[in-house]
Amino acid sequence: MRIAMIGTGYVGLVSGACFSEFGVDVTCVDKDEAKIAGLRQNRMPIFEPGLEALVADNVKAGRLSFTTDLTAAVAQADAVFIAVGTPSRRGDGYADLSYVYEAAQEIARALDGYTVVVTKSTVPVGTGREVSRIIRETCPDAAFDVVSNPEFLREGSAINDFMRPDRVVIGAETEAARAIMKQLYRVLFLIETPIVFTSLETSELIKYAANTFLATKITFINEIADLCEAVGADVHDVARGIGLDGRIGKKFLHPGPGYGGSCFPKDTLALVRTARDKGAPLKIVETVVAINDERKRRMAEKVITACHGSVRGKTIAVLGLTFKPNTDDMRDSPSLEIIPALQSAGAIIRAYDPEGMEEARHLLPDVVFCGNAYETLVGADAMALLTEWNEFRALDLVRVKSLLKAPVIVDLRNVYNPEEMALKGFFYSSIGRPSLPGSQSGNCSP
Ligand code: UGA
Repeated sequence: MRIAMIGTGYVGLVSGACFSEFGVDVTCVDKDEAKIAGLRQNRMPIFEPGLEALVADNVKAGRLSFTTDLTAAVAQADAVFIAVGTPSRRGDGYADLSYVYEAAQEIARALDGYTVVVTKSTVPVGTGREVSRIIRETCPDAAFDVVSNPEFLREGSAINDFMRPDRVVIGAETEAARAIMKQLYRVLFLIETPIVFTSLETSELIKYAANTFLATKITFINEIADLCEAVGADVHDVARGIGLDGRIGKKFLHPGPGYGGSCFPKDTLALVRTARDKGAPLKIVETVVAINDERKRRMAEKVITACHGSVRGKTIAVLGLTFKPNTDDMRDSPSLEIIPALQSAGAIIRAYDPEGMEEARHLLPDVVFCGNAYETLVGADAMALLTEWNEFRALDLVRVKSLLKAPVIVDLRNVYNPEEMALKGFFYSSIGRPSLPGSQSGNCSP
């Protein structure tokens, strides 16, 4: 089996490397010459735990290679995966499919013998049909089938998610296409991973329905967290109490500053647009989008409240900038809303993130970027924890207290224990948990 993976972003690079680990011959294709040159020297364009070693091993084994030559890669392939970006179109929230359609045309011109063309990128319902039409129009004699095979991997745990998925979804409408897909996923068949075979449209919709459902679950627990604060309940106990019900499930019930990243914000918006266009609006998802946008902005207020209602002229030490830990991805990160809001309110921001600072420097002006967590805290009026990197869980809190001007911590990821923080003499504000005596907000140095 030989495949070509078009696009070496998160999904393309991880899927390509994992397929090669399954024993498939994989050629990853990208237009970006610098990226391909880097990959050939085992320089990863993204930070993803385990990826560098996986790529190095499979390149060495001769199963994985990188090229800018789409034509040669496609001509030799049994299956061609389209894994290019589908960003939100500026201004209207629709998924921008120009890269997908451009790839379809180039693939069409390079096809040689029966080939399965697979959309791996997250694409709105109907895109597979359109890809099929484009290929047919560009190359009327081509022998091909289009398949939808959405990816469910998460940044930060992408390799494990690909290798041990809860399920694989394949939208394929001919026996020939299904046979090739089964062969590619043979390793997962062997470990009895559920494989859902369906139509093109259904497969495309499954991906959006999954992401919007998860975004809804997070938004639900975030609102419950707000209610917990109002009534003196503990959101973690509520999450556990409902999550143990198998019909609800424990995962994705961790409250926070609002979901971010390259997927949920873009996909919720794109599905809202599709649903409206088709006359079947998704009012729940529309509300989720609005609540989440508003929540990110509101989180700055939480920091301001902990600082006596004003941060003017005060220094806030921000720990964590990426939308979640174990990634360098800053896309739609809550920090991009919270930090500018604090700056508008007059705060001086010092910040540190283990992997995200290179990207953050382009996105967040007037921030003092520091070399580590402790350096960030020096002389600050409060610490705000925005991303739950493990190294922040393990901070020496005595040292933290000695470095801060005032012992105020606003923890938007609930990584610390409120009782312990109160005992250590912090004024500690977190999400959806009752305030303890001595840890109420409003205690930042005046
Ligand atoms: C998400 C999905 O989880 C993947 O299944 C999917 O394949 C991927 O999008 C995609 O479409 O490509 P990802 O964006 O990498 O993966 O990250 P998640 O772990 O889902 O987190 C998304 C956001 O939700 C983060 O900002 C995270 O902090 C937040 N979150 C997640 C919470 O606030 N609470 C939770 O309980 C879980």
